[in-house]
Amino acid sequence: MRAPRTFHVKSFGCQMNVYDGERMSELMATDGLVAADADSADLVVLNTCHIREKATEKVYSDIGRMRKTARLAGRAAPMIAVAGCVAQAEGEEIVARAKVDVVVGPQAYHRLPALVRDAAAGAPAIDTALPALAKFAGLPARRRVAPSAFLTVQEGCDKFCTYCVVPYTRGAEVSRPFAAIVDEAKALIDAGAKEITLLGQNVNAWADGEQGLHDLIRALDRIPGLARIRYTTSHPNDLTQGLIDAHRDVAGLMPFLHLPVQAGSDRVLRAMNRSHTRDGYLRLIDRIRAARPDIALSGDFIVGFPGETEAEFAETLGLVDAVGYAQAFSFNYSPRPGTPAATLPGRIAPEEMNERLQRLQAAINRDQLAFNRASVGRICEVLIERPGKRPGQVLGKSPWLQSVHLDAAAPIGDLIAVELVEAGPNSLAGVARIQAAA
Ligand code: 5AD
Ligand code: SF4
Repeated sequence: MRAPRTFHVKSFGCQMNVYDGERMSELMATDGLVAADADSADLVVLNTCHIREKATEKVYSDIGRMRKTARLAGRAAPMIAVAGCVAQAEGEEIVARAKVDVVVGPQAYHRLPALVRDAAAGAPAIDTALPALAKFAGLPARRRVAPSAFLTVQEGCDKFCTYCVVPYTRGAEVSRPFAAIVDEAKALIDAGAKEITLLGQNVNAWADGEQGLHDLIRALDRIPGLARIRYTTSHPNDLTQGLIDAHRDVAGLMPFLHLPVQAGSDRVLRAMNRSHTRDGYLRLIDRIRAARPDIALSGDFIVGFPGETEAEFAETLGLVDAVGYAQAFSFNYSPRPGTPAATLPGRIAPEEMNERLQRLQAAINRDQLAFNRASVGRICEVLIERPGKRPGQVLGKSPWLQSVHLDAAAPIGDLIAVELVEAGPNSLAGVARIQAAA
C-alpha cells in the first residue's frame, strides 16, 4: 500500500475522543498529510467508542461501507486506522477480522505517523500499550481551535463501577502535570479559545502533589484572555469542598456541573459499586447549591441494571424529581464484555428497559424545559460559537451551557450580553443587549 497523502479522522463517543481526534489531526498535519473528507482521504482514522453495545459492530460496518464506496467510485480502498477504545479493547482481533492497517489505543496515538509508515511498508501495525501520559510529549502544539476548546487534564479511572469498560480501555487514573496543563491552556488561548473545558474520565480526581482541581481552576482563571472554564466528568466522591468553594468565588468558572449518579436506589448503587448513596449524593447537591444557587446540574443515568425492580427504578425517577436537572443523559444498561455486571443474573427485558427509559427521559425533558423557561428574562453573557441555520443568525452558549440563538452581527468567538427571551426544550432565543468586553 502506498503512503497516504491525505487523511480524515472520524470520532465517536465522548468529549475526550473529540479532543484526541483533534490532536491526531494536528499530528498528521504536522507529519505532512493534508486533511480531506471521509470519502476521498487516503487514510481514514476511526476514533472509536466502546462504552455501550454495538460500538464494535458499528466499526466493522463502517469499514465495510468505506471500502464499498471506494470500490464503486473506482478508487483504491483507503488505509484504515482504528483508534480509540474499541482499538484498545479488541486489539489484534480487529486486524484478524477486518484486515485494517493500523490499530492504535487511546494512550498510544502519538505513534500514529510511525504506525502509518509501518503499515505503508506492508505490515499491519498495532500499538495498544497503556503508557501513562507518554503521548502528550509527542504531540505538536495547538495552533487553531474553536472558541470553546477541550483540554485533557486527567485520564483513566480507578473506580471500577461494575458496568463500565473505561478502567480497561483508558487505564488507571493519571493526572497531567500542572505546568503542562497551564502551557497547553495558554497555547489554546493563543490559538483562539475563549472557553476551556477541562476533560477527564474522573476530572475532579485531578491532582498534582498537594494541588487539586480547584487550585488548577483558580490558576487558569488568572490567565488573560481566558473567559470561561468548565470541567467534566466528575465523580461524586471526588467533589471536594475546595471545588465547591471555587464555584462560589471563581468568576470564570461557569455555573454548570455534570455529576452522574446513575441510579436512585441504594441497592442498585451498591451493585454498581458506586460507593456513594442516594442520600450522600443529594446532600452534595445541597452543598453545591448553597455555594452557587444558580448552578445548572447535569447527570448520567443507567436504566435496567441487572436485577433493577420497578420500585428501584421509581427511586431513580424520584431522585430526578428531587434534583431538577437542567439536562441529563440516560441509557439502557448494556453488558460490556469483561465487566463484573455482565455476568450478573436478573437481566431486564429490552421492552421493559425501553419503557423505563422513556419514562425517565420524559421526566428529564420536563425538567430541562422548566429550567430553560426559568431562564427567560435573564441577561447573561453568550459565547458566540458558530453561524446559525438562518443567515444573520449566530449560535452560542449561555453560562449554564444552554444553546442560544440570536440575530446579531456578532463575530464568532465574541462574548456578548444577551437577554434570553424565549425557551424551547433544547435551546433559547436571545436578543443582544449592551456589548460586553470579549
Ligand atoms: N451501559 C449503559 N450505560 C453505560 N454507561 C457507562 N457504561 C455503561 C453501560 N455498560 C453510561 C454511564 C456513564 C456514561 C458515560 O455512559 O451513565 O456515566
Ligand atoms: Fe467511549 Fe469511554 Fe472510550 Fe470515551 S472513554 S470513547 S466514552 S469508552
